Amino acid sequence: MLKEISPHGGRLVNRIVEGKEKKDLERKALGLKKILLNEREISDLEMIAIGAFSPLEGFLTEEDYKNVIENLRLKNGLVWSIPITLSATEEEIKDFKEKEDIALLKEREILGLLHLEQIYTYDKNKEAELVYKTTDLNHPGVNYLFKQGEYLLGGEVTLLNQPEHKEFKDYWLTPQQTRKIFQERGWKRVVGFQTRNPIHRAHEFIIKTALEICDGLFLNPLVGETRKEDIPAEVRMACYETLLEKYFPRERVIMAVYRAAMRYAGPREAILHALVRKNFGCTHFIVGRDHAGVGNYYGPFEAQEIFDNFLPEELDVTPLFFENAFFCRHCGGMATIKTCPHPETEHFALSGTKVRELLSIGEVPPPEFTRPEIANILIEWFRKNR
Ligand code: ADX
Repeated sequence: MLKEISPHGGRLVNRIVEGKEKKDLERKALGLKKILLNEREISDLEMIAIGAFSPLEGFLTEEDYKNVIENLRLKNGLVWSIPITLSATEEEIKDFKEKEDIALLKEREILGLLHLEQIYTYDKNKEAELVYKTTDLNHPGVNYLFKQGEYLLGGEVTLLNQPEHKEFKDYWLTPQQTRKIFQERGWKRVVGFQTRNPIHRAHEFIIKTALEICDGLFLNPLVGETRKEDIPAEVRMACYETLLEKYFPRERVIMAVYRAAMRYAGPREAILHALVRKNFGCTHFIVGRDHAGVGNYYGPFEAQEIFDNFLPEELDVTPLFFENAFFCRHCGGMATIKTCPHPETEHFALSGTKVRELLSIGEVPPPEFTRPEIANILIEWFRKNR
């Protein structure tokens, strides 16, 4: 038996109730005050409940919230970089009392309960400055923050009904399940990969380089809420499936969807992404150029530098950093400045944005940019939709 890698905080959280307890709580919930969750809050509830956000047991209470935004830690000292909060308006909270249970709804369906511990106000400007490093409303994370209600509701949650997922059912695995699979396969070193873009050659290069020193890859595309400019998850998933089928040894890869919302918080989100993948059972996590970035709010390697603020044992998941990857004509392959001595004129830049630009004008990107099989999927989608 291999030693299992410890979840963040030492214990995998499970806030799901089933059987009789669930039935009883569902009945009770009918008589409770209610709050309607939006798409991000639903996904956060689910991530908490399945343990992906271990050690969180619920939405942050004030002391944790303040510690997270100011010090990147929970009040108990554990590293946590992104506030996972449930906001509400004055109108929504007018009858709420602390220490009571509130039913959490998706439309009319009861998903779960919030054991409301605290109702508190917060400073959006401060959160924007500290978490996103900007108050610019063009930043999608900041934009979301400023649309939130004026109050935050803190407290543990209980999930009664998993939100229904029509899409990607075959790729839905909980941390409990992935941990079991990695164990069964005998993988000692598992590298996690986060992505929200169609997979291109640079991604493939860094993943394969990481896989050379690991036993298995956990490909974990984010399929929760993204900004509308991003390629939809179903198109991206078709790309990942094709790439895995044609270019990867299947027995070395587990792909599962990460049903969380993108925050676009660059460095802070890289820490969250690493901790979440540790909860799924990864020992290593890839952080490349401009991880979880958007626009020019973060330096290209800030998401790597932030890891220096923590002791390795505090994170207990090894980040694998990658320089900007490109195709070098002179080398005849993928490389970075760490391995290629040739001038920039020999390099193809391989950003997702660039690929999108070409596709949107109906041009097939060169194979050094993206695999032809992937380009075909994307072009088809652009033809139909743009
Ligand atoms: S992200 O928002 O999920 O980070 P994306 O799917 O583009 O976006 O990136 C997934 C991972 O690949 C991130 O760690 C990112 O830093 C890395 N990455 C993307 N493109 C490159 C590149 N050209 N060179 C190095 N790393 C890259």
